[in-house]
Amino acid sequence: MLLEAIQKIAAEKEEQVVQMRRHIHANPELSFQEYNTRDYIRGCLESFGIEDISPCTETGLVALIRGRDPERKTVALRADIDALPIVEANTASYRSRNDGVMHACGHDVHSSSLLGTAAILNEIRDQFEGTVKLIFQPGEERLPGGASLMIEEGVLDNPKVESIIGQHVMPLLEAGQVGFRKGLYMASADEIYIRVKGKGGHGAHPHMTIDPVALSAQLISALQLVVSRNSKPAMPSVLSIGKIIGNGSTNVIPDEVYMEGTFRTFDETWRMRAHELIRKTCVELIGSLGGICEVEVRKGYPHLRNHELLTERMKEAAIAYVGPENVKELEIWPAGEDFAFFAQAIPACFYRLGTRNESRGITGMLHTPTFDIDEKALGVGPGLMAWLATEQLKWESDQ
Ligand code: NI
Repeated sequence: MLLEAIQKIAAEKEEQVVQMRRHIHANPELSFQEYNTRDYIRGCLESFGIEDISPCTETGLVALIRGRDPERKTVALRADIDALPIVEANTASYRSRNDGVMHACGHDVHSSSLLGTAAILNEIRDQFEGTVKLIFQPGEERLPGGASLMIEEGVLDNPKVESIIGQHVMPLLEAGQVGFRKGLYMASADEIYIRVKGKGGHGAHPHMTIDPVALSAQLISALQLVVSRNSKPAMPSVLSIGKIIGNGSTNVIPDEVYMEGTFRTFDETWRMRAHELIRKTCVELIGSLGGICEVEVRKGYPHLRNHELLTERMKEAAIAYVGPENVKELEIWPAGEDFAFFAQAIPACFYRLGTRNESRGITGMLHTPTFDIDEKALGVGPGLMAWLATEQLKWESDQ
């Protein structure tokens, strides 16, 4: 049976995957600067005997594994490879050797896991029909997102990709478990920059000023109405202002206030309308109170929708691989992720790999200096994804 064959090879490769993960973790590189990571990944692929490797974007790689009847269908598996500008606080032997840069979002896990998947698929390539395209993607953490650049360079063509799967670590799920959610899963994430200009003066004489601090307080409240009074109650939306600088003092009203925030939702039409409402509220409210408002809404990644049928099939396949007790239903997750660009182009499934181990104190959240994983997760990720790829090829053929 194919499933048992994959599990057996995955068990043999587990230690090697752990070593690859530790190497990538210890040598993190920032978005779009992943030159050494790319070269390391290429070297690993070549050592497995995979020869069809080509560059895509400056630091991205694409590899093909052809099964029987390779022209029949092509499916893609994607891993992001970049790290974050964070000083690692962990003391493990494999901690970052690149000061101020850290794999704090698990992309070391995604890339090493996909390398393991590549090794497995290459050994069983006479046991599936079609082609698997492995996408090692740079720059997930930085706009405009490596996914959008790779799509522009044709990563989904030649051979044309029918569907795509991505995996992401999840520190809220126990290692050994995985999570799926069909339909809406992750949010669009846009950045808001606001400057409220008034007229400063003495705190004792507010009537002689146009107080940008008081105006900004009104604006922050009014912006919440954009979400609560315009979005359908069934459509989750978040607007958060996370930075506010009004640099006066106890008795000085400043000339201006500067703010930054984020807007997140799960529908592209509503997203564009919300951008208009945000701009209009800023300009018209502040204008009506005598100030001037400059506002920029900078577009980030779109929302991520998991294809219903594909995701259902992948969840069933995961149940067969790790058992029903280890497959969880995920909640909506309002973070952004550039895998969404792939999901807007073709049927996609983005699932979560559990990495938590409370008894060993492995509970750090993503993008924090103490994030780490229980490497037991690497006993699941590579083989599961290889199995999902073969099931994905079957699903494509059933369509
Ligand atoms: Ni990430």
